Amino acid sequence: MKILFTHIKELLQTRDNPTPILKGQAMKTLPSIKNAYLLIEDQKISQFGSMDSLPELEVDKKVELSGKMVLPTWCDSHTHLVYAGNREQEFIDRINGLSYEEIAQKGGGILNSAKTLENTSEDALFEQSLKRLEAVSHQGTAAIEIKSGYGLSLEGELKMLRVIQRLKKHSNVTIKSTFLGAHAVPLQYKDNQTAYIDYIIQHILPEVVSQQLAEYIDVFCEKGYFSVNDMERILEAATAKGLTPKVHVNQFNAIGGIASAVKYNALTVDHLEVIEKEDIIALQNSDTLAVALPLCSFFLGIPYTPARELINAGLPLVLASDYNPGSSPSGNMNQVVSTACIKMKLSPEEAINAATINAAHAMGVSATHGSITPGKMANFIVTKSVPSYGYLAYDFGNINIDTVYINGQALS
Ligand code: NIG
Ligand code: FE
Repeated sequence: MKILFTHIKELLQTRDNPTPILKGQAMKTLPSIKNAYLLIEDQKISQFGSMDSLPELEVDKKVELSGKMVLPTWCDSHTHLVYAGNREQEFIDRINGLSYEEIAQKGGGILNSAKTLENTSEDALFEQSLKRLEAVSHQGTAAIEIKSGYGLSLEGELKMLRVIQRLKKHSNVTIKSTFLGAHAVPLQYKDNQTAYIDYIIQHILPEVVSQQLAEYIDVFCEKGYFSVNDMERILEAATAKGLTPKVHVNQFNAIGGIASAVKYNALTVDHLEVIEKEDIIALQNSDTLAVALPLCSFFLGIPYTPARELINAGLPLVLASDYNPGSSPSGNMNQVVSTACIKMKLSPEEAINAATINAAHAMGVSATHGSITPGKMANFIVTKSVPSYGYLAYDFGNINIDTVYINGQALS
């Protein structure tokens, strides 16, 4: 099946294969073709160019897109989309003055979600999560990473990871799975954190690996959660079993997690709201990507990742939603892009690059996703009639999407 899209007002993020990660200055450029055509064949992008150079083509269908733009679908490289229930009460508690950390110290937060998850059947967890996945795909996300981390026991973690596998089978969205057993210390290990790390390494990790339930390993490295030493023990064991690190670091405190993650060749370090000079130096001497999560900063009222500083230091930046019930109950990547422009002073070009091609690298899907490139999957967003691509970021809170195509098929 060949479909030809014609008269595209502007075709964005047109790149060669392979498409390298964009660092520093290179993030400022968003290549595009005005008044363009795009040909897709079955599930893949076949060719594109200016309407002036449109060759004679035999196609099955033509779609005229005057006034509309086309850009690659979003890649969301950091989410906790599989969860049960919600944390609306903690939202109210925070309005009334408690901080995220204070709520966690009182046994709320991640442990609250863990309790709800324990009391939710696997089928119900799947149904709740599928609804969220379908919603974000209509908001333009066609590749997503999903973490475990609300199980905090062998049974609970496997239950979450099985739900992620079931979502993979059920959806056209490309899904990557991350094992986050070290998300919070369960109550029964409160006075013996080391024993929980042992339990993760000796009992949960081997099952996750033998059942092939995850490709990445994550740890919440933070004061009151897991120390750098805890993280290193887990990364040592998990990398030996073939999992690649993608870790939560520097959300509230800089405790040396970045240098340590770099030592373990982490694909990404995520959050980075608090960052010191040595963290930037560690990243400059590595292939590890910095992932910022602006909706978490927005929702919790904590500092934003100093994205300008990172880009000005020549680093690659990635944007993701952090979709989860506690710190970002939204997986809307359009809002992520807007918020990054408004609050982190990214240009629209930088933000779109960070949420497409760089984000594809941050979850190992850059061969198939993240740009309009012949041979990649035909995953793209057709916008409504908009004056420019900058308008997509400017018009915050509104979703200017007409149609989302995943693997060459329009979502209905
Ligand atoms: O990325 N900070 C750690 N984990 C999540 C929040 C999880 C939760 O509060 O449920 C985050 O912000
Ligand atoms: Fe997170």
